[in-house]
Amino acid sequence: MQFFSSLKSIRNSAVLVSALLVFISSQKAFASVQFHQDTNVFRLDGGDITYVFGINDQGQVQTIYWGKHLPAAQQFTAAQPAAAVASFDAPVNTTPQEYTGWGGALYVEPDLKVTFPDGNRDLVLKYVSNKVDENEIDLLMKDISREVYVTLQYQVDPKSGILRRSANIENRTKQPFTIEQAAAGTWNLPRGTDYRLHYVTGRWAGEWNLQQQPIHGGKTVLESRRGTTGAQNNPWFMIDHASTNDQDQGDVWFGALAWSGSWEISIEQNAVQDLRVTGGPNSFDFAYYLKNGEHFQTPNFYGGYSDHGVGGASRLLHRFEIDTILPHAPTPKLRPVLYNSWEATTFNVDEAGQMALAEKAATLGVERFVMDDGWFGQRKTDHAGLGDWYVNPQKFPHGLKPLIDKVHSLKMDFGIWVEPEMVNPDSDLYRKHPDWVLNFTGRPRTEGRNQLVLNLARPDVHDYVLQWLDKLLTENEISFIKWDYNRNWAEPGWPAVPVEQQKNVYVDFTRNYYDILAQLRKKHPNVEFESCSGGGGRVDLGVMALTDEVWTSDNTDAYDRLLLQDGFTYAYTPGVMMAWVTDSPTWVNQRTLSLEYRFLSSMQGSLGIGANLNHWTPEDFATATKMVANYKSIRETVQRGSLYRLMSPREGEQSVTESVSQDGKQAVTFAFLHSSTQNYPFPRINLRGLDENATYTLNPLTGKVSSDTPASASGAYWMHRGIDVELRGDFQAMAFTLTRQ
Ligand code: DGJ
Repeated sequence: MQFFSSLKSIRNSAVLVSALLVFISSQKAFASVQFHQDTNVFRLDGGDITYVFGINDQGQVQTIYWGKHLPAAQQFTAAQPAAAVASFDAPVNTTPQEYTGWGGALYVEPDLKVTFPDGNRDLVLKYVSNKVDENEIDLLMKDISREVYVTLQYQVDPKSGILRRSANIENRTKQPFTIEQAAAGTWNLPRGTDYRLHYVTGRWAGEWNLQQQPIHGGKTVLESRRGTTGAQNNPWFMIDHASTNDQDQGDVWFGALAWSGSWEISIEQNAVQDLRVTGGPNSFDFAYYLKNGEHFQTPNFYGGYSDHGVGGASRLLHRFEIDTILPHAPTPKLRPVLYNSWEATTFNVDEAGQMALAEKAATLGVERFVMDDGWFGQRKTDHAGLGDWYVNPQKFPHGLKPLIDKVHSLKMDFGIWVEPEMVNPDSDLYRKHPDWVLNFTGRPRTEGRNQLVLNLARPDVHDYVLQWLDKLLTENEISFIKWDYNRNWAEPGWPAVPVEQQKNVYVDFTRNYYDILAQLRKKHPNVEFESCSGGGGRVDLGVMALTDEVWTSDNTDAYDRLLLQDGFTYAYTPGVMMAWVTDSPTWVNQRTLSLEYRFLSSMQGSLGIGANLNHWTPEDFATATKMVANYKSIRETVQRGSLYRLMSPREGEQSVTESVSQDGKQAVTFAFLHSSTQNYPFPRINLRGLDENATYTLNPLTGKVSSDTPASASGAYWMHRGIDVELRGDFQAMAFTLTRQ
């Protein structure tokens, strides 16, 4: 038990060494953290969750329990390492540890892997001490012989019980060493055999496809090797039991990484069917050169639990994002209705054209006018101009001011598109600084959309980007930046620094990206930001802390969007999910959809309009004006409320969602019919999340309900008897609200 000799903590009594409670009385939420010295057990409680781990007699930090809140009086016995399964699986592989170094006979995914300058690669971490503070625990671990220290950091959110985990790695040796893998931590789920994994996959214009698969022995890796988050996988997971298969019931464990660089979440069922989920920066091609005396802070890995099915889990995550992650949390600003010029004008922006669009947008009730790509440098197509962030004098002979003044005179605020991390080879910037891009000396530079990636890890590139963005915001009354990023990395070299530091690019790039956003937000606190990466390619809890909204997808086909938005909202709140109404037929599928349908689809998130208003008829303007007004009457419920998935667009011909406002006074339901078949009526809609005993008044926003529907009824009636709607044909849609009396 030598590992406990330096144990320090706050002393209250002989047995319960520390027990701290954090109350948030207005929200009836509390968190507590405790350390039981007699058993070496730590316990965190928050929301409806209890999380328990202990120090076993090997000095390993071992998970004991993660799940539904247990009575405060519940005692836990000391953690005990697993027995060896066979000579092939040493106990280190089957003991559910919170954080393991790669060393000894470890074959499961490690959290930390290090190479020392003398060639030693063995790292065995043991517990040293703890620090308990309000709703946080820091656990110090150390290698058995070398001065490598790791602080495991835990914080429990009082309201949701979601835990924030990270690790801080410290080099107190006398020489630098190389970190080759640095996870935030490992989540251990209870032993089980019928787990099912939910995750999302995608690609450009086809993001957010929800996937479900049974978990069997072995490992599944969700990842991006692309330099940034990517649309192909998203750093989020949910795990439930395949046997429950319910939106609102059953155990669900979930997690999300707050990291916008290459990332990795591995889900591994080991030899004794324990389930381990390890997450952090991607270990592929990874290295971070940590000098002696330096620390390496991993990204945060959030994890939560709900016994209310995948629906309950995503509602908990949405609420957590709103209350703790987003800028201005717990009261992030509601998203204004915006107009964006991209699909209307592409690169052909100019002062007169943008003013004409702004005038038309303003008549609809639009609150923000955003000029997209094409306003700067020699940007006439995507072949030139990126990197040269001066206002194009042919398109805007008097600068941006006349357009911005015009937009303000129309009572809208002004937003603008930028793509700061990119450069076209055909640009003044690249001609001057060809060494500023990611590259390996003497090797090809692979272009994507005719552009290269600036190496934001370089201090000079960081400073250049920060400086021109700051200047743009200082010199112009800009309220909103759409920050785009339209390709992934290739040849990720950084020849300007010593070889052993070149792979630091994976971390330093992302850190500098965050730093620029943070500095701009600080200096220009009224400016809002959108994270866009050719659509939904950079959405994660890291970037969400620094941006107010995200662009969901370049696919604006309103029917496709039902599927994409469904997948998106498993992980992220609809309050940040930008959804534009664009022209029909869409470029994506050549599908023709009514304007009302397109609006209803977009109204499930943060409403925007991206159509070419020059082509709209007076009837279109009338419909759109009505729908924008409707949206404003339900926006708070959609953006901040609790989302219930009543019929999935992935199953059958219908799709229905319902949002219930935080105060419970309003419920909004959207119903979509893909295609009527065989004269079947639309299935009855049974609402959820209402107060059984309260009375709610029905108000169709668009479309019809069946003639026997009462004008008002109890919550119990709407939930148990349900409501019939009149939807027939192809691609029909309607929406209604219920207002509590
Ligand atoms: C990709 C974005 O997703 C679009 O909305 C648009 O901004 C274009 N880039 C502009 O190049």
